[in-house]
Amino acid sequence: MQFLQRKCIPPLVFCSIFALFLLFFSTFSHFNGVPFLFFHHISAIGDSFDFVENQLKLTPVSTPPSPPRFAYLISGSAGNGDMLKRVLLAIYHPLNQYVVHLDRKASPEERLALEEFVKGYKVFNEVGNVRMIVKANLITYKGPTMVANTLHAAAILLREGGDWDWFINLSASDYPLVTQDDLLHTFSNLPRDLNFIDHTSKIGWKAGQRAKPVIIDPGLSSLKKAEVAWVKERRSVPTAFKLFTGSAWMALSRPFIEYCIWGWDNLPRKVLMYYTNFVSSPEGYFHTVICNAEPFRNTTVNHDLHFISWDNPPKQHPRRLRLVHMKLMLDSNAPFARKFYPNGRLLDKIDAELLSRGREMFTPGGWCAGSGENGTDPCSVVGTPTVLKAGPGAKRLQLLIDFLLSSGTFRERQCK
Ligand SMILES: *[C@@H]1O[C@H](CO)[C@@H](O)[C@H](O)[C@H]1NC(C)=O
Ligand SMILES: *[C@@H]1O[C@H](CO)[C@@H](O)[C@H](O)[C@H]1NC(C)=O
Ligand SMILES: *[C@@H]1O[C@H](CO)[C@@H](O)[C@H](O)[C@H]1NC(C)=O
Repeated sequence: MQFLQRKCIPPLVFCSIFALFLLFFSTFSHFNGVPFLFFHHISAIGDSFDFVENQLKLTPVSTPPSPPRFAYLISGSAGNGDMLKRVLLAIYHPLNQYVVHLDRKASPEERLALEEFVKGYKVFNEVGNVRMIVKANLITYKGPTMVANTLHAAAILLREGGDWDWFINLSASDYPLVTQDDLLHTFSNLPRDLNFIDHTSKIGWKAGQRAKPVIIDPGLSSLKKAEVAWVKERRSVPTAFKLFTGSAWMALSRPFIEYCIWGWDNLPRKVLMYYTNFVSSPEGYFHTVICNAEPFRNTTVNHDLHFISWDNPPKQHPRRLRLVHMKLMLDSNAPFARKFYPNGRLLDKIDAELLSRGREMFTPGGWCAGSGENGTDPCSVVGTPTVLKAGPGAKRLQLLIDFLLSSGTFRERQCK
């Protein structure tokens, strides 16, 4: 009663009504044997929904394991500028870091357009986590200049990208199948030293067609993009290390990237020199390094996190995905897929059904704090980046991760 008196001196009438109310309540609750039940009810109504909402925001699903950060390289060539922008918007999240690169085959106009897009986007400027390699590299498809470009971007991200946990290499014909909130949420619970890299030492036909031929990458000596040049001599398979091969798509841990870039150990350098004359080095360089490096072989997860549809038998390029692939793609539970028709119907379907992404907008997530009024992008206002709203994509991805890390899969498939 002390409490009531102090609190309600002026409106005496209200006070007495409230006291009566309390009296009634206590009888009622005693009768029910559930004290305070009624009180809870009152507070829920009285404090409006704002209160409930704030409570929800204060306890995001992502704590206590704090969300990780991804560092992305998205690269493209002539004519890929628009798709590159679309991929960037679809996988953008303020916690992540991004490097975009258009190789030297793209026209100066196209590169300038991308540069202006990156510089002019309000959110990118505010957060400051998107950068472009302005002095473009010349890249030979299948040649070592491709690996050199990936290492270059990784080095930039180490120097300028602050904290991040995984490096992911994408092209303009890749696309996400889950939101970044889904990805960050699922990876929150994973050891940060895992490396997702599809690999095998059964190089089979590749021994004769990839390991033994010697090539020269024209990207190192000419200014024009050209096919790799084949040398008449052949070499034998190396004995200093064991060759591994696999998919050119991967998510590599920061410790492993540091190992490759810093080069305190000689293995990454030695393997790079070997791969300088190797056909399709992106399908072997990191695989060979990681499986020959004792501290890292046990961190490999044998998967590239992509859905890719190959012809049977596989040709040089994977099939372009169409609407009929939607179900297979979803069933794979992979967070990314390739390769797509630029701005095709399948991409629109993924935007609408999997990412809830509006045209030319960001993929919405817990960080988006705008009202979305009048058709504006809700993500044009940056809220709290660590608030993650995981959706159905996180459930799918979790299935894949659970499978990959299950006993009988994880250890059994490492560097075999
Ligand atoms: C990195 O991304 C490009 C796509 O732009 C791809 O072709 C390349 O093989 C990837 N992997 C490596 C290891 O460079
Ligand atoms: C890696 O795993 C193997 C087999 O489980 C074990 O013998 C080896 O000591 C591990 N290496 C490291 C560096 O942890
Ligand atoms: C939306 O449009 C209405 C009427 O045109 C305007 O009053 C309002 O300020 C707009 N809101 C935003 C967020 O632009």
